[in-house]
Formats: sequence, C-alpha cells, structure tokens
Amino acid sequence: MYENGKIYMGLADGARVELALNMCNRHGLIAGASGTGKTITMKVMAESFSDAGVPVFLCDVKGDVAGICAPGVSSEGMEKRIDRFGLRGSFAYKGYPTTFWDIYQTGGHAVRATVSDMGPELLSRILSLTPAQEGILHIMFRIADDKGLLLLDLKDLRAMLNYVSEHRAEYMMTYGNITPQSVAAILRALLPLEQQGGDLLRRAGARHPRLDAHRRGRPRHGQRARLREAGAEPDALRELPFVDALGAV
Ligand SMILES: Nc1ncnc2c1ncn2[C@@H]1O[C@H](COP(=O)(O)OP(=O)(O)OP(=O)(O)O)[C@@H](O)[C@H]1O
Ligand SMILES: [Mg+2]
Repeated sequence: MYENGKIYMGLADGARVELALNMCNRHGLIAGASGTGKTITMKVMAESFSDAGVPVFLCDVKGDVAGICAPGVSSEGMEKRIDRFGLRGSFAYKGYPTTFWDIYQTGGHAVRATVSDMGPELLSRILSLTPAQEGILHIMFRIADDKGLLLLDLKDLRAMLNYVSEHRAEYMMTYGNITPQSVAAILRALLPLEQQGGDLLRRAGARHPRLDAHRRGRPRHGQRARLREAGAEPDALRELPFVDALGAV
C-alpha cells in the first residue's frame, strides 16, 4: 500500500520492503510459484499508484483483477495479515476508480484505434510479419504520410498496399525494393485479423477517445487517478492476437 510517498510491498526478515516511486519507471518482474501472490502484488502496486495519482493500464487476461473497482471484505486471514504487517489503523477496504476498456465494444468503454495510430512496428508484430514484409509496411506508411493519407481501418490498409504494389516501379527508386510476393503475404496475413474482429478497433465512433497506451492523465489535486483495465470478457480476449501485442507494448 501507498504510505509516506513509497509503496509498502511487504516484510523481509522483519524489515519493510518499499518501492520508491522514482524507481517505478523501470521494468519489473514478479515471479513465484502458483498461488504465492503474484497477481495480488501487482494489484496492490496498481492501487498504490492510483493513491499516488499515477494512472495505470492493466491487461486483465485472466479476469482476476477486475475486482479492484470494489472494496474487499474482511476475513480472518486478512485481519491476521493487517496485524502482521503493522497496518492496523492505516488500512481500509476500498474500491478504486476503474474504467473497463472493452475490445468488443459491448459492455465497457470502447477501445478505438486507427491503423495510422498503430503504426508499422505494432502492426508487424500483430501480423507476425518477416523483416522484409515489415520494411514494406514502413514504406507504405511513409508514402501515405507523404501523400497526406489517413489510414483508418483495415480496408484503407488493403487499398494502400494494393496502390503501393501497383506503383512499385515508381517508388522503388526512392524507398527500395517492393516485391509483389511480400505485399501478397501482408494481404494474406490481414485475413485472420479481419476474421477475428480486427475492424472492431476502428468501429467505435468519434465520441470515444482513441486508445493511447502512452497517454498520461493529469489527476486533479487530491483526486485518485483513474485505473484502466482491458478485458471485460477474458476468455474471448485471449483469442485476439492484438491483445498480446498491446500488452507487450
Ligand atoms: N498481499 C496479500 N494479502 C492478502 N492475501 C493475499 C496476498 N497475496 C496473496 N494473497 C492470497 O493468496 C491468494 C493467491 O494469490 P494470487 O492470486 O496473487 O497468486 P498468484 O501467484 O497470482 O497465483 P497464480 O499463479 O495461480 O496466478 C489470493 O487469492 C489471496 O487469498
Ligand atoms: Mg495470478
């Protein structure tokens, strides 16, 4: 929990283990055997960040973090832990402000992102492209930029790929080799994404803000930052390849 400007993580040989906020921009790994408390540790960190006014984006693939929005209930085990960790008096069960981003756009806040927002690197990972194919995506994005074309959905991406392929002789002098085989492979890789609902990324409409993994909300003074979670439907989420890619950003 968040106390005195630090995250109180636990005890080791009777001494408090704390995480300083200015060290939290590093990568971290929580490891342990099944049932040893990895998820709860991550959840407590998310709650502490929220208390400190830092927005958190969580991918809730297994569906065991969503309860963060509701206060916990007292149990014998918890009462013992409150005493063991010296939290009597400072600990309170509370729910945290949560926005559920919903990739299916049925129950939560619609996830919306355009092809342009995603960019060539992320799209290449989603589509499992080879370096040569990724190179072509880079060229295609560059041409779209130069021409002032906005790539909104997968239809635009297809149209742009076909255009680049048809005019490859013209562009190869400036940007390098563009083989029809590589373009065809990218077009083929788009098929499963379309079938798995890739166009949902775009469909939400203007009233929903775009998904921006790097956006930082600016919490007002004294107000806890919003916690964001992806995944109202954990099982279905796992079927979508781009969820892994987003989680790995
Ligand atoms: N800090 C904690 N305070 C109170 N209870 C805890 C804490 N950490 C773990 N627990 C208890 O241990 C149980 C298992 O913890 P958790 O789900 O975090 O384990 P895990 O390592 O993520 O397991 P898995 O490998 O199965 O995902 C929790 O349901 C909870 O009852
Ligand atoms: Mg877990």
